[in-house]
This record gives sequence, C-alpha cells and structure tokens, in this order.
Amino acid sequence: MTADAVVTENLTIAFGGLTAVDGVDLQIPAGQRRAIIGPNGAGKTTLFNLIAGQLRPTAGRVLVGGEDITGQSVHARSRAGIARTFQLSNLFGQLTVADNVRLAIAGGDPSVRRTFWRPLAGFAHVERRVADLLARWELDDVADERPSELSYGQQRILELVLATSGDPRVLLLDEPTAGVSKSEAERLADTIAALPRDLTIVLVEHDMDIAFRLADEVTVMVNGQELVTGSPDVVASDERVIDAYLGSDHDVA
Ligand SMILES: Nc1ncnc2c1ncn2[C@@H]1O[C@H](COP(=O)(O)OP(=O)(O)O)[C@@H](O)[C@H]1O
Ligand SMILES: [Mg+2]
Repeated sequence: MTADAVVTENLTIAFGGLTAVDGVDLQIPAGQRRAIIGPNGAGKTTLFNLIAGQLRPTAGRVLVGGEDITGQSVHARSRAGIARTFQLSNLFGQLTVADNVRLAIAGGDPSVRRTFWRPLAGFAHVERRVADLLARWELDDVADERPSELSYGQQRILELVLATSGDPRVLLLDEPTAGVSKSEAERLADTIAALPRDLTIVLVEHDMDIAFRLADEVTVMVNGQELVTGSPDVVASDERVIDAYLGSDHDVA
C-alpha cells in the first residue's frame, strides 16, 4: 500500500484565544485532487501554512508520503516536493515573466545553484525548460513583460508555472482564480485540470462550480474544523453543508 500524499493528524493552531485550525484529520491519497471550501475565516489558508511550513502547529502532525514533516522548514518541505501558490500574488514584479520562470527553475536545480555566479541565461538546459514552459502555458508572447503588465488570469497562470516548475509531488493552490474574470477563471480551471494526473492537488477555491468540477473529493471547513469530506455529489447535498452556507450571509471562499 502506498502512503497517502498528505495526512494531517489532529492538526491544530491557536492564535491567542482563537483556534484557527482545530483538530483537523485529513487523508489525501496520492494523485487526488482535493478541494477545501468553507466560509471566510474558516482556517483554509492557515491549514495551507501548516502543511507548507509557514506556520508550526500548536498540536498535531503533518505527514507527506508517510514521513512526519511537522518539524521541517519551508525549504526542506519544498525539497520534499511540496509547492504552493499564495492567495495574494507572490511574483517578482521587477523581473520579466521569463526571468521569473528562469529563477524558479534555477532555484530547484543543484547544478545551477553550485555555480550561481554564472549568468542564468548561460545554462542551455535552463533556457530550454524556460522556453518549453512559456510555450506550453502560452506565455511566450509576454515573456519580456513584467508581471504587472499581464492580465490577472495570466499572472495566475504564471504563478502556476512557477509552483510546478520543480515537479512537485503535492501542489497547494490557495484561491487560484481569485480576482480574475469568469472567462479567465474557466481557462485557469482548464489549465489546472490539465496538470499531470499523478500530482496531488489541494485547492482552496471560492468558485463552487470550479471547486466541484476539479475535485475528486471536497472537504468543507467551518470554524477551523472539518465539517465533512466526500465526493462532490455527496458534499453538495449534505444538510450540514447547506446549513453552513445557505441561510447565512457567509462568503464562500
Ligand atoms: N497570523 C495570524 N495571527 C492571528 N490570527 C490569524 C493569523 N492568521 C489567520 N488568523 C485568523 O485565523 C482565522 C482563519 O484565517 P484563514 O486561515 O486566513 O481563513 P480562510 O483562509 O479560510 O479565509 C481567521 O479568524 C484569521 O483572522
Ligand atoms: Mg484564505
């Protein structure tokens, strides 16, 4: 039996009196696409921060591929194959699109890191990957622009390119379609759907259509706790989920 890609056991973090993530037990099999939905403030981003290592839990554990990574740094987790995007853009605004991609690839390539004083553009294998990625994701036309000159949808695609450039095992996407038009959101969803099927994807998504379309399973979080996990059909018709959303003025995000 292969170990689940991501397991959390009683994962908990308190900020002062507020328990933002409260005893969450997740089992996400390798290759699964899991959507995490829930009202604003439910603890979804905090859960990602605990899995990716930006935060350490007050209690509980995080296992990736069966290995306990709870005490590991962000960098160690990234070397172990965990990649993420952020709810707010994390692009280098002063660099061109191509340089953002070049830097992401070089950062994950030991042969480049050992010789960092050479100009990055001098590495033929890096240049090939940059060109491949830009072409595959249809960013070649804007390779020399700064991220701020791109549409929001293109910026989000660039973030996906950067997050996947190191061939991660687990990809955490925090609201990948936030702030983009509906048509750009659809294109982003198609792009996410076309990612390799063996990549485990955990996705926080406020657009329910997109969340339910992309996900194999959906977890609903409310007040830091897991309310329910199941197939999109089962979750969509769960009374507790309907109660948590309808009849309240919560935004789902
Ligand atoms: N670093 C922090 N310090 C204090 N409170 C925080 C911190 N990060 C998040 N919170 C609080 O934890 C709760 C969950 O936040 P968050 O994980 O961002 O929710 P979501 O992503 O589901 O909207 C919120 O009440 C938020 O204000
Ligand atoms: Mg959030």
